[in-house]
Amino acid sequence: MTKNFERHTITAALPYANGPVHIGHLAGVYVPADIYARYLRLQHKDVMFVCGSDEHGVPVTIRAKEEGVTVQAIVDKYHTIIKESFEAFGMSFDIYARTSNATHHQTASDFFKKLYEEGKFIEKTAEQYYDPEAQQFLADRYIQGTCPNCGNPEAYGDQCERCGTSLSPDDLGNPRSMLSGASPIRKATKHWYLPLNDYEDWLSTWILEGHKKDWKTNVYGQCKSWIEQGLQPRAVTRDLDWGVPVPVEEAAGKVLYVWFDAPIGYISATKDYFKQQGKDEAAWQPYWQDEQTKLVHFIGKDNIVFHCIIFPAMLKAHGDFILPENVPANEFLNLEGRKISTSRNWAVWLHEYLEDFPDKQDVLRYVLTANAPEAKDNDFTWADFQARNNNELVANVGNFVNRVLTLTHKYFEGKVPRLHTNFLEATDKGLIEGLSAYPKKISASIEAYRFKEALGYIMELSSTGNKYLQEKAPWLLAKDFEKNRAQIENTLHLALQVVANFTILAQPFLPFTTEKLKKALALEKSSWQEAGKTDLLAVDQPIEKTGLLFEKIEDKTIQVQQERLAAIRTAQEAAKTTNEASQNIPTIKDMIEFNDFMKLDLRVATILQAEKMSNSDKLLKITLDTGVDQRIVLSGIAKHYQPEEIVGKQVCIVANLKPKKMAGEVSQGMILMAEDSDGKLQFIQPGDLVHNGSTIS
Ligand code: MF3
Ligand code: ZN
Repeated sequence: MTKNFERHTITAALPYANGPVHIGHLAGVYVPADIYARYLRLQHKDVMFVCGSDEHGVPVTIRAKEEGVTVQAIVDKYHTIIKESFEAFGMSFDIYARTSNATHHQTASDFFKKLYEEGKFIEKTAEQYYDPEAQQFLADRYIQGTCPNCGNPEAYGDQCERCGTSLSPDDLGNPRSMLSGASPIRKATKHWYLPLNDYEDWLSTWILEGHKKDWKTNVYGQCKSWIEQGLQPRAVTRDLDWGVPVPVEEAAGKVLYVWFDAPIGYISATKDYFKQQGKDEAAWQPYWQDEQTKLVHFIGKDNIVFHCIIFPAMLKAHGDFILPENVPANEFLNLEGRKISTSRNWAVWLHEYLEDFPDKQDVLRYVLTANAPEAKDNDFTWADFQARNNNELVANVGNFVNRVLTLTHKYFEGKVPRLHTNFLEATDKGLIEGLSAYPKKISASIEAYRFKEALGYIMELSSTGNKYLQEKAPWLLAKDFEKNRAQIENTLHLALQVVANFTILAQPFLPFTTEKLKKALALEKSSWQEAGKTDLLAVDQPIEKTGLLFEKIEDKTIQVQQERLAAIRTAQEAAKTTNEASQNIPTIKDMIEFNDFMKLDLRVATILQAEKMSNSDKLLKITLDTGVDQRIVLSGIAKHYQPEEIVGKQVCIVANLKPKKMAGEVSQGMILMAEDSDGKLQFIQPGDLVHNGSTIS
């Protein structure tokens, strides 16, 4: 049974301020959250939609180290970039806060303190990995090693990014410090743990029994598996110097675990919103404390355990807060068949997309919703992006709207013609009836978090309009305009009402496009309740043209994007090859004295002659001009070079090697060759021509 809530608190995962945001973030979390928030506002619901930057935790400190700047500089930089990207894409947050601000520190601190004072934590001193060189404990991403689940040698201390398993540093094989590369030692340290095991029964009742029907199967399934595996106490403090300080004396120098403080950031953001509005101190409370509030968390699948198990257990332990009604997590979006990766630069970054497509925010919002990873991982490809733009937005929506507006101007001076109810044909009646069903259908999909399906209905509405226009063909009727006037007027009147309905219903999905349409139609009735009817536009009301709502994207535009990705792929493959090759490189030999080196007489010589030897398929018999003499050297390169191709080459030789007999001939020296791990041979040559006999040292 669906409860009728008085207000809605919608949260979108706080992105780490350790890098810009990409299409995967948008598709998985922010676009669906924004659709949902906009939809509820169109219903005149009381909505609080919060987000902000997650500025603590190892991900940001590692990034600072990589970029060689302070952590503060990193979070300032990425907070700004992320905030601007979100604004540009129309994310309608009531507030975009940050966890480094004072309200948050206070709120998180108080939260911890209450639980601490009420004895809700357990204290444990245990040995943890410690980097003796960097003199630091190695929590979370400061430690890397082999994943016990899939064998990935680069799993982190908190998670394996290959198989998604959540880990703790003790699970890793072969652990090494990300700070210095050193092998960590064990050192005792005291921490505070939330005994999740004590919440197991409660979680099981609340989720496994209470939300079997309304939570998405991917979310429910993960929760079930976590709970059934048995929950363990979870440390909520860390030995780090970046974060919210643990507010108790005996924990001086420690900070709250980022996953303890960050979700509290949703609450702090709500407080900040009211502060900024100059509202009463307590105005935030109903959004987090009143049972009449529906709390919904939008997240990606890697955040499920934190939002469904750990944060609810925290809220429950605290006691003053409501719990999420739903956590509609999405799966992941891949890019051209590969997992999106920040570190490998395999992503379409929002700020870069905006440079290339400055007015196509709705196109991306559309493509990411039409292809959303709602039930399974999905793939974004530039070819699909182009096809959906050209075949769906341009050919369906753009074409329909454009035809209706143009014809209205052509026949009726841009004013809404009247409707002759006594002249309605079956097609007109069918259209009116069909139209009335859309708001309900779309609402049902949105409320079930099936945004892809909802968007499908909106596109269906537009194609219905197109088909209707095609069937009625007012341009044919116009050949005898006066005779057919009633029919033409009816057709355009109704077609315009479809455009108006499309405008209302598409608002959550295509906010930029529908804003233009609202202006052009001077649409006053634009709330959800108004949709489904054919009285949205008044007779004689003037309508403006919109210009092209969507434009065709050409192949060459798409090729630029595809080539950019191809270049990244090629560079990575080359790096991978080098990397693999480097693993076969023999280790360096024992040290020698400088005098040992000085004993070698290395010279430049030129190959005068080369020939195969009848009694060896490996050796070539080579005559050299050493500048000092002409001599014979036997070289094991017969499988790599034909004699004729090496004649005339300048080479480097060991000139004072004792003569050695091989295959019945005496070799007077040795030609230097480079050999790679695949056994490929190359001559060592001076960069430019030098005199034979030149010394090498
Ligand atoms: N920063 C986290 C991530 O990017 C998400 C934090 S969500 C919050 O995965 F609830 F903790 F805020
Ligand atoms: Zn793994």
